[in-house]
Amino acid sequence: MKYGYFDDQRKEYVIERPDTPYPWINYLGSEEFFGLISNTGGGYSFYKDASKRRLTRYRYNNVPTDSGGRYYYIYENGNYFSPAWAPQKSELDSYQCRHGLGYTVIESEKNNLKTEMKFFVPKGDNAELHQIKIKNLADSRRKLKLFSFLEFCLYDAEDDMTNFQRNFNTGEVEVDGSTIYHKTEYRERRNHYTFYNVNQEIAGFDTDRESFLGLYNSFAEPQVLEAGKSSNSIAHGWSPIGSHSLEIELEAGEEEEFIFQLGYIENDNDQKWEKPGVINKEKAKKLMTKYNSSAKVEKAFAELKNHWDKLLSSFSIEHPDSKLERMVNTWNQYQNMVTYNLARSASYFESGISRGIGFRDSNQDLLGSAHMIPERVKQRIKDLAATQFEDGSAYHQYQPLTKKGNDKIGSGFNDDPLWLIFAVAAYIKETGDYSILKEEVPFNSGKEAVIFDHLEASFMHVVNNLGPHNLPLIGHADWNDCLNLSAFSEKPGESFQTVSNKDDSPAESVMIAGMFLTTGPDFIQLAKKMNKEKLAAKAEEALAEMKEAVNKYGRDDDWFLRAYDYYSDKVGSKENEYAEIFIEPQGFCIMGGIGLEDGFAEKTLASVNQRLNTDHGLMILDPTIKKYQLNLGEVSSYPPGYKENGAVFCHNNPWIMIAETIVGNGKRAFEYYSKIAPAYREEISELHRTEPYVYSQMIAGKDAATFGEAKNSWLTGTAAWNFVAISQWILGIRPEFEGLKIDPCIPTDWDGFKVQRKFRGTEFEIEIRNFDNVNKGVKKILVDGKEIKGQTLKDFTKEKVKVEVEMG
Ligand code: GLC
Ligand code: GLC
Repeated sequence: MKYGYFDDQRKEYVIERPDTPYPWINYLGSEEFFGLISNTGGGYSFYKDASKRRLTRYRYNNVPTDSGGRYYYIYENGNYFSPAWAPQKSELDSYQCRHGLGYTVIESEKNNLKTEMKFFVPKGDNAELHQIKIKNLADSRRKLKLFSFLEFCLYDAEDDMTNFQRNFNTGEVEVDGSTIYHKTEYRERRNHYTFYNVNQEIAGFDTDRESFLGLYNSFAEPQVLEAGKSSNSIAHGWSPIGSHSLEIELEAGEEEEFIFQLGYIENDNDQKWEKPGVINKEKAKKLMTKYNSSAKVEKAFAELKNHWDKLLSSFSIEHPDSKLERMVNTWNQYQNMVTYNLARSASYFESGISRGIGFRDSNQDLLGSAHMIPERVKQRIKDLAATQFEDGSAYHQYQPLTKKGNDKIGSGFNDDPLWLIFAVAAYIKETGDYSILKEEVPFNSGKEAVIFDHLEASFMHVVNNLGPHNLPLIGHADWNDCLNLSAFSEKPGESFQTVSNKDDSPAESVMIAGMFLTTGPDFIQLAKKMNKEKLAAKAEEALAEMKEAVNKYGRDDDWFLRAYDYYSDKVGSKENEYAEIFIEPQGFCIMGGIGLEDGFAEKTLASVNQRLNTDHGLMILDPTIKKYQLNLGEVSSYPPGYKENGAVFCHNNPWIMIAETIVGNGKRAFEYYSKIAPAYREEISELHRTEPYVYSQMIAGKDAATFGEAKNSWLTGTAAWNFVAISQWILGIRPEFEGLKIDPCIPTDWDGFKVQRKFRGTEFEIEIRNFDNVNKGVKKILVDGKEIKGQTLKDFTKEKVKVEVEMG
């Protein structure tokens, strides 16, 4: 069952009823000011850091779900309702929520009133605009009131929901005309405040939550709305809020428009005050003026649209399958940008307080955004590299405000170093900009280094940390955070993520071996580029040895082993009672070229198909683990079918898609792609539950009672990897060091498709024809009518180029 539809023209998902199977959200802002907004106006806003600079309050895991947000109420003759449905929840005569790229519009009708509310963050400013239009559809004149409401957060999100003995005393506000200023802690150490304004004269306001709601009322029945009148309260401690009331008179057919603005201001220390006790409002007033008319707001909105159109224009396709088009052209790329911006910080599943920027996460996220924002990606790579240790290991996370490594979680995840090589290689393949290798970025210790030194340290970290089978030591964990082979945890509540009580652990990871073989050849090319022939030769040797080790010790009969545990026993083998097969090494060992000569790759992929494939995607392992296993750790702590214990973990499905394209099986690659791509699951929204326009981290696996139900939408490496799989390997438009390779691997019944790709300054119009209905193989490539040798486009001197590709 569907709850809406894709409007492909406008690049929007249109939700047609407010009670979606889960709140379906969107993100506002892509620079410093961010908001999360649900389809009924729920959510919150923050500046840069969702943990330390939370501007409005939201209560996670609340009852009912999704309470707290940007709320508006319309009042008429003793009755009131919420035009976004929440929080008052009277039935609306019509309702529609359009989530677009960086904006959300909620439209509804009730009692012959039409309301349209548009929410977005204008480019370049730290503010959220709420443009609200109310139209009288009746044939007589009416008097109404509009009430606004949001709750301020006292900036530190965790402290805000725990430290009440202090916080109930600190809240302070100022009201000046139509603007409410939230200035808690500004008097002493903070140099920033938040304001909430409307561009018209107000009839009243409230800034104290209790005065607005009533102590025992919910958001659905504020006492101010019951009374029909603001109480002009000033918050002294307790919970500061912002609420305006406006009196409106509308003739028959008349429409009025209001612009609300939530802004964030920082002042220099010597500029904090206008006079004693009164905050300096100069910057705030400037910002309000900047967006105080509909013409100004429309212009800012047009600029936002433009910005997104431009971002998405570097890759788009024309294909008979509209689901594929909407994933590739719009939603997958959009999600890539959101994950790039927010890492794993704030979603409806990530509370915004627990995680910094993950080393492995971010290095993977940028695989999906290097083609859109190469400059920013370059900076991120430098930030990440700066948290690396001299021996190549890395802080697992860093805090975005300070850019310092996070000591609480530390290092020791032995896959981390290699992701940096993936990221730098992807950046150079996209841009051709080798200068990044010579950018100076010291190690965390302060020791001077250039980026290439970091890559060398990464590569050597694997070489220097091999176990008894010459396979890479896993350390704390590899990509699978829950496969904790070096932590034997028996204490309830102990974090699997940080405990490592087997420091001398010889546990080894076949997955890291596969990653090493996958990214090693890129490292060698880069070493040669840096004229480090000796190092390149040494690396060649290391790769050959790793290949031998995997062939010798990394294979089970029909697939690749996952690991060796603390006792050097096999993990992910037929010999095991549970978890005989894991997905990760199957993808990476084949990407790393193992088993291609002797048919083992095909055999492995057949096993994957037989053991892990379900109607809802490929499970991470099989059979699920039914009992807690001390030697495996967190993976066995999840009930069967959930998360790392046998869910469809959408992040690693694309590794298998890519492996399938390597052996030339386009049909299977695309089958796996379309099983988890959200647009293909739209029809089963009642089962899938999370947004049908973005990937979720996981879909419950076949052993779960809720098989097919997705969780943890938006902030997941799934977005980047699926984009890599579809764009580079299935559609086959693949950046390489030498240029843009054209190498599709598709289902045989596709007759062809078109791709527009901007690459290194040239716009390629690529038409791929599959007259012979093959899976893979390119017979001929014409560039502006002239046949070229090979499959790689290498000339970037022209602005626009037409490419005709004949498969066969
Ligand atoms: C989560 C983490 C990611 C990890 C994955 C598998 O998505 O963010 O770092 O690789 O789980 O455990
Ligand atoms: C848990 C999750 C895993 C995630 C990790 C990060 O282990 O299962 O997916 O990567 O937490 O904190």
